[in-house]
Amino acid sequence: MAVVAIPKASEEATSAPTPTTQPNTITLRISRFNPSNDSLPTFAEFKIPVQKWTTVLEAILHVKQNLDHSIAVRYSCRQASCGSCGMKINGKPALACYTKISEIGSKVVTVEPMSNFPIIRDLAVDFKQLFSDHKKMKPFIMRDDSEITPGTKEFVQTPKDLEKFLQFSYCIKCGLCNSACPTMATDESFIGPQGLAQAYRYVADNRDQGKKDRLKIVDQSHGIWRCHFAGSCSHVCPKGVDPAMAIQLLRGYLMGFRK
Ligand code: SF4
Ligand code: FES
Repeated sequence: MAVVAIPKASEEATSAPTPTTQPNTITLRISRFNPSNDSLPTFAEFKIPVQKWTTVLEAILHVKQNLDHSIAVRYSCRQASCGSCGMKINGKPALACYTKISEIGSKVVTVEPMSNFPIIRDLAVDFKQLFSDHKKMKPFIMRDDSEITPGTKEFVQTPKDLEKFLQFSYCIKCGLCNSACPTMATDESFIGPQGLAQAYRYVADNRDQGKKDRLKIVDQSHGIWRCHFAGSCSHVCPKGVDPAMAIQLLRGYLMGFRK
């Protein structure tokens, strides 16, 4: 009589057929640059396994954890909210945590620091200028009185009023728009699409009374008139903000087409 060996539960689990999650292998090329030692960036190449859902950030972190821990990369939320992980991915500014390798459609993925920002090291860039320009736009409601509606303790605003600025308030200050901007590439003092879109966000808010101040800030030699309307800022924004449109609408106020 034939004896059939019955596998133990633990053996069954390990011998079960692998579902359709076999990893692919890609080449990840990471820009390496330390401004205190290097004169030019170089690329380090790594062969790494990726799944359908692997993001570029996860691929970089795989390298950091398993192959070279010295790579400098900035990230925090891993869910397209904090704006920390912006970089150029195969030449295009994008959030690394919001870009799946499988969607790039290439076996070679090259990551570089964002253009138009000073490089701190490798993929980490300096945001000082962006934050300072953002602050210059006075990103808060300016008014003398509180105008809080008695009983509700709220600023009453209609949905139509809200629509005028809502998309611009979604900005996470990732800097991708500034990185894509050709004017920023030639004028490092240019306010940039991020700052200009934020100026518009408050100018268009009917609770705000700081329009005059903000229009004065953007109407200067490295301000709003430097924009050539290339539109690349709006093209790369991961949050659906349209800085190119904000700049045109702001110009409308300065030229007297809008009140
Ligand atoms: S406008 Fe868009 S691309 Fe520019 S900083 Fe804000 S979220 Fe990023
Ligand atoms: S890690 Fe926060 S936006 Fe990517």
